[in-house]
Amino acid sequence: MSERIQIVEVAPRDGLQADPADLSTAQKVELIERLVAAGHTRIEATSFVSPKAVPKMADGDAVMAGVPRSAEVSYSALALNQRGVERAIEAGVDEVCGVVVATEAFSQANQRATVAESVQRWRDISDAARASGVKTAVTVSAVCGCPYEGRVDAESVFDIVGELAETQPDELALADTIGAGVPTRVAELFAGARERAPGIALRGHFHNTRNTALANIAAAIDTGVRVFDSSVGGVGGCPFAPKATGNVATEDVVYLVHEMGYDTGLDLDALIETSTWLETQLGHGVPSLVAKAGGFPTPK
Ligand code: COA
Ligand code: ZN
Repeated sequence: MSERIQIVEVAPRDGLQADPADLSTAQKVELIERLVAAGHTRIEATSFVSPKAVPKMADGDAVMAGVPRSAEVSYSALALNQRGVERAIEAGVDEVCGVVVATEAFSQANQRATVAESVQRWRDISDAARASGVKTAVTVSAVCGCPYEGRVDAESVFDIVGELAETQPDELALADTIGAGVPTRVAELFAGARERAPGIALRGHFHNTRNTALANIAAAIDTGVRVFDSSVGGVGGCPFAPKATGNVATEDVVYLVHEMGYDTGLDLDALIETSTWLETQLGHGVPSLVAKAGGFPTPK
């Protein structure tokens, strides 16, 4: 049996939150249904943040009410304050995700809080989620570069990781939110994070802004990371990070790791079909290359 790499599908949240298209709740639910049919068992379905800050996620409660529920599929949602975690629990999410940005300027732009304040907010969110039996995952974002401050000191990332590890999240992610990272940097960050968060599962979150995401995933795999976020089609961005572009495309990651000998439980053809369908819903093309080229060629 091949070793498993788990993909967390983030198109419904990170993918759609900054896309110019306005999908209806029904379209978002259909996207999630298609993702489940393609084999996804972990889906970031929406976020419970201020609808003024992120209008595209204003229907999070309705999306969660519409998604197909089964014991096999776990739905997560982003929450950045008490109100958010309460809404997430009420909506029946299986996992609450928080974010602490690695730099002060981006932290202010994203969640109007200092880094220290957002660590404290995460502690409160984590306590509330735990009290309701909901899983917790926290992401340190902008770990490879910040749109406002430029280069990010790895030690400051490790200090944040150490503080977040005290809350014993079910998973801790490092995110290259603006796609500035390269494999050497990624390997350094995951090695350091593992030291500062011993025993806590790590997840990688990469954007392909500068075409380095797959290389970064391969580097993270080398350091032992086995869980990655990706977005079908490669849609995505961040409303608070100028020029941030798509998440790495799920079908591109799946092609990579399948050919490397890992198993994901995902059906590549069904993902490509979903990617093509998503283009028709969004009214524009998606950046995925595997969606265009197809899977490994079969001899004629
Ligand atoms: N759900 C719904 N509404 C919320 C909310 C939530 N979780 N949190 C805040 N709001 C509303 C408040 O009701 C208030 O509305 P009002 O102006 O009509 O009274 C408004 O948002 C501001 O609330 P406040 O508590 O002052 O929050 P803030 O202005 O300090 O913002 C965040 C903090 C985190 C809620 C906000 O910056 C945010 O939602 N950012 C989104 C970040 C994001 O999703 N980034 C992308 C992914 S990392
Ligand atoms: Zn992201």
